[in-house]
Amino acid sequence: MTRILQVSDTHFGTEIDAVVEAVEKQASALKPDIMIFSGDLTQRARSAEFAAAKKFAERINAPVHLAVPGNHDLPLYDMFTRLVNPYRFYRKFFGPRQQVWQDGRMAVVCLDATHPLRHTRGKTKLDEARALLESARRSLGPVGLLCVAEHQPLDVKMPADIPEILINAAETAQLFAEFRVDIVFSGHVHMPLIRDTHKLFKISRHFIISGAGTAVSRRTRAGAPNSFNVVDIKDGGVTVALHALQKNGAFEIAHQAVFTRDDSGWRGA
Ligand SMILES: [Fe+2]
Ligand SMILES: [Fe+2]
Repeated sequence: MTRILQVSDTHFGTEIDAVVEAVEKQASALKPDIMIFSGDLTQRARSAEFAAAKKFAERINAPVHLAVPGNHDLPLYDMFTRLVNPYRFYRKFFGPRQQVWQDGRMAVVCLDATHPLRHTRGKTKLDEARALLESARRSLGPVGLLCVAEHQPLDVKMPADIPEILINAAETAQLFAEFRVDIVFSGHVHMPLIRDTHKLFKISRHFIISGAGTAVSRRTRAGAPNSFNVVDIKDGGVTVALHALQKNGAFEIAHQAVFTRDDSGWRGA
């Protein structure tokens, strides 16, 4: 079995210390093989916030750590840095904004949908994404599991969040289908959403969307306490579990979805 821990939107600078501790302890106990940090690691892209995010990630016991930037990981008020060197602290602490990680059986393509000239909205850089997906799929072969992490989502739960969907969501979904992407990890709206893409996109092969909430930030929304997602890949099936903060201060599974694969791709049970 392979277990992926997805932590998102920590917004360090607005974190709740007790929740940080609870996530570190409980997520580590789940012994993930990979941790994916799906953007908005910091609140204002300050060096100290990135340092705190990095320490948090390092305290989570996973052999592989991957991250993508979110719109909050570029400075907002420091216009000079935003235009001249917006990703300097992201790069210093978390490395490349886009990359392919793979171990021969599965791959994770990390995509950066942010842009210094856009405030919150994301747009897939389609040519760059295609090159990364092509390289990942080539090294995996046709059946290896291909995951994507990209901060802004392909779909949202709340109608009010529709403006936060990726600007080129339909083209992005087409591209993902073309390369037989299996799971897409996103964040941004602080409202978890776990689903397949049937009834969402007209594409030749459907995939799983794992949208995560905010793991440790005070910036929670009504009906969505702090949470993280855990994806288990086993015997050809995928289970995505939403671990949400309870009143007793511990994280418990609040929702779980099981997906199986057929000729059309992935489908929720
Ligand atoms: Fe966020
Ligand atoms: Fe965001």
